[in-house]
This record gives sequence, C-alpha cells and structure tokens, in this order.
Amino acid sequence: MICDIINDDCVKYLTSNRKNHFDLTFLDPPFNQGKEYNSHDDNMHPKEYWDWMRNVCGLIFNASSDGGAIYFMQREKNVKEVISVLEDSGWTFQNLIIWKKKTSAVPANERFGKHYQVIVFATKGGKPGVFNKLRINPPLLVTEKYSRPTGMYVTDVWDDIRELTSGYFAGDEPIRHKNGERFHKQQSPVQLLTRIILSSTKIEDLVFDPFAGTGTTNIVARQLKRNSIGIEKDEENYNTIKKRLSDYRKSDDVTKFREDYIFTENLDEIFPAYEFEERQPHQKQLVLFEKKAGYRKRNY
Ligand SMILES: C[S@@+](CC[C@H](N)C(=O)[O-])C[C@H]1O[C@@H](n2cnc3c(N)ncnc32)[C@H](O)[C@@H]1O
Repeated sequence: MICDIINDDCVKYLTSNRKNHFDLTFLDPPFNQGKEYNSHDDNMHPKEYWDWMRNVCGLIFNASSDGGAIYFMQREKNVKEVISVLEDSGWTFQNLIIWKKKTSAVPANERFGKHYQVIVFATKGGKPGVFNKLRINPPLLVTEKYSRPTGMYVTDVWDDIRELTSGYFAGDEPIRHKNGERFHKQQSPVQLLTRIILSSTKIEDLVFDPFAGTGTTNIVARQLKRNSIGIEKDEENYNTIKKRLSDYRKSDDVTKFREDYIFTENLDEIFPAYEFEERQPHQKQLVLFEKKAGYRKRNY
C-alpha cells in the first residue's frame, strides 16, 4: 500500500507527475486570509489566488480517474469562487456541504455571526465512480417524534464533527509544541477525513492531498486501507507528518468512529478491521474493534 508524503510545491509535483489516477482529492489550501505560513504568502491578490486555485484544480482534474471526487474546503464567503474555479477546471458540482463545526460562532457586527465552513463536493464526469451512502444515528431532535431504528443517511449538513480548537475540548488530537501551543492551526480532524474517505472511495483507491499540512489525510487513508499521496511545501510540516506517520498516536485512531456508521449497509466492505502489525497497544484495540464488528451481526 502507498502512503507517500512528499516535500514539494503541489503545482510542481502535479506538473511533473502526470501519470497518477486519483480517486479522491481533499483540497484544504491556505484560505488567503493573512495567516502566518513559513513557506507561503497568505496575502495574495484575490485574482492571483483564484488563478492559482484554478490551475491546481485543473491539474488534479487531469490526474483523476473518471468519476473521481474532489472535496474543496474554504470559507463560506468564498463559495461562489470555489464553485466557479471547480467548474472552470472541468469538475461537476455535486454538493455544497455545510460543516457546522460544533464550536461557537465567529461574531460579526453588521451581518450574522459565522457558524460554518463550506466543503464543495464535485466529480470528474456527471456521476461519482464511488459513492457510499453512509448512515449515522444522531440524537433525536426535540421536534422529532419517532426513533430511527436504523439511523439516517448523512446529508449535506455536517454538524456532528468538531473542529480542532486550542482549548480543552480539542483533547489530544492537535499536534502541539512542547509549550502546549498548537503546531498547525489548520489541522483537520481525523473524523472529517474519515467521513470524506469513506463516502467517496473503496479499499485500495488512491487519495490525494496537495496541501497536506499535518498529514491528516494520509493518516486516515492508511488506517482505512486506501493508498495516499500528500504534498507539503513546508519542511517543518513535512517532518512532522513523517513523525506522525511513524509514531502511532492513539488520538489518530479512526476505529472509534466505526460505531457512528454501524447502520451503513456496506460498512464491512468499506471500513476494514485495522491491523497494526507491530504495535502492541494497537493490537489490543484491534481486538476490541473486532468485537464491535461482531455486535453488528446481531439484530438491532
Ligand atoms: C490549510 S493547511 C492544510 C491542513 C491540513 N488539512 C491538515 O489536516 O493538517 C495548508 C497547508 O498547505 C501548505 N502549502 C502552502 N502552499 C503550498 C504549495 N504550493 N504546495 C504544497 N503545500 C503548500 C501549507 O504549508 C499548509 O501546511
């Protein structure tokens, strides 16, 4: 299985490696909002920024398999640009996913406070090559009268995945410096990548992340037995990803999310029992995990 992380500029990589067939791309670029990056200017002229994104999306489109998927994450105010950049570069729009991140809204004075981020899901061609209809079982709303014995399909509003923040609630998942500060402010939650990879790939498919950051896509893809390639321009981030991939952290374990999807019809086909061959602590978890899988065979 491939789990590659490459220290490069993604445009350079995509221009010189044209033989890939990506089945899924997670695109979480710098948002051009003046954040501090070691190897990137996050204060580009808007036209320059969106031309760059159009180029990246076009190169990925050419390197994707027919029916391949892209999930492009951005700020809600840029949704118009995201959709047009994707369509200009050949992608077919499928969904506008609202990720309501379970954190407090960002207050605003002259408009409503901001409470979500967007993820645009698009495909190469009119139909996705793979789309697994995941089922979840969120708590009933007070307005809902009847229980759902087999849960419900995931919709385009994702309000059950918490963003990683600096505070106590973020737990152990954010990678931190010795002084407790977060290493990378944009680290995506493993739970988010678990949902995206499970929805749009099958085992052994190839997942691509051109802006790998802390390597969340690689770490999740590997556990779900998908091949993955991540590109990260910054050397310090790249070294951190290498370490994250070689030193197992319990907080990166995705098996804890299996239970969330227990009512998904083809779950056993898409969410494999995880094998961490050499690592004792994980093997213990594997046993637990297999027990859970066994419970699934009972009637609910
Ligand atoms: C928003 S972060 C991605 C965070 C990632 N999703 C995670 O879970 O950690 C964007 C990353 O892209 C990297 N980057 C910026 N320009 C790049 C380029 N031209 N090629 C590759 N990586 C780049 C930045 O260094 C940064 O780590």
